[in-house]
Parts: sequence; C-alpha cells; structure tokens
Amino acid sequence: MTAIRRVLLVASIAALLIAGGMLALMMVETRANHPTATASNSTAGAAVGGPFTLVNGDGKPVTDRDYRGKLLLVYFGYTFCPDVCPTTLNNIAQALVQLGTQADAVTPVFISVDPKRDTPKVIGSYVKSFDPRIVGLTGSDAQIAAVAKEYHVYYAPQPGQNGDYLVDHSSLVYIMDRDGKFLKVFAGSLSGVEMADAIKPFVGSGS
Ligand code: NI
Repeated sequence: MTAIRRVLLVASIAALLIAGGMLALMMVETRANHPTATASNSTAGAAVGGPFTLVNGDGKPVTDRDYRGKLLLVYFGYTFCPDVCPTTLNNIAQALVQLGTQADAVTPVFISVDPKRDTPKVIGSYVKSFDPRIVGLTGSDAQIAAVAKEYHVYYAPQPGQNGDYLVDHSSLVYIMDRDGKFLKVFAGSLSGVEMADAIKPFVGSGS
C-alpha cells in the first residue's frame, strides 16, 4: 500500500524573530503530504506551546508539567507517515547521538496527529525503534486538537484508497526550555548534526 512518494524537500527557511514577544515564523518544507505551512499569521503575537494533557506509551496520562527540568524537543506527526516523520525522528535520534552526554538535558517528544491509529502502545513502540529516549504521546481527539492549537500545528487527514489515509501536517521541531517556554523552532529536515548544533546553545544555559 505504501507507494512512497518522492520527497521534495525545498531548502527551508525557518526565519524566526523574537522581538518584544512577537514571533514571526516562516516555513519550511514542500511535499505532497507535508505541505508548505506558514505559521506567521497564527503565531504572530501568540505564545507557542502551553499546558497539555496527553497519554504516554504506557497508557498513562501525562501533562506538560511532567517534563519540566529538561529541554523539550517537540515534534508532531504520526506513525503511519510514509517518509517525513520517520526521517525527522531519525534526525532527532542522530542529534541525540551527536549531543553525547548533553543529550541528558533533552527530552524529545513525538506527539501524534493521528490518535485514531496511534494508540499509546503503537506510538510507544514506534518511537523506541528510533531511540528509546524519545517519548511518544497520543490522546483523545480533543487533547490532540488542543495541543496542536497551542503549537500552531496544522494537521488534516486526507482520504486515500481502501479506507486508508494520510495526514497532512506541518513538520517543525520546537525547543522548549526547562519551564516549558518556547525557545526556538527549526525544520525537521535538518540533519542530526544541524539539530544538535541548534540545541547545544540551550543545554548549558539553564534557561
Ligand atoms: Ni509525517
């Protein structure tokens, strides 16, 4: 069923300006089921991130507060994604390797935009296939809608053949500080080395 479409990664610009709390953000990636998304309208003047209640790979409810004290690397996607999500998760796993012991300061979180298929068990085992340190989170439709809204993440199921479907979604990786506040966003298409370089300045900052 998976006729994997050719990935067309347009060199991305994540131009991020934080000025007086204003955030301007331009995106990123052009391909069939990860369309170009411009978050600038929805993020201007609005905070990125916020409180959430979701369900982890063990089926236990978790909130954003459970992840305080470490940098959070937040990425949204789904386990049935044919290409961009696995590529991005692989890049994140490589970034952890690149960070070495500094990776202890980071918790990567993969939040499903396809909670119907991504049960806790499904997403929990999926992320572990990339790196056991990656946390897979899912939840009810309402919980996912709420957290996606907070991160200004676009997602939309696209009907396919035989009742199958893909989910269009924006593919940005967010770095949140140890108190859950937004620090930086970058494209999921960055290599592991590039991601590690993006993360390193925040590891020692104690922010
Ligand atoms: Ni994807």
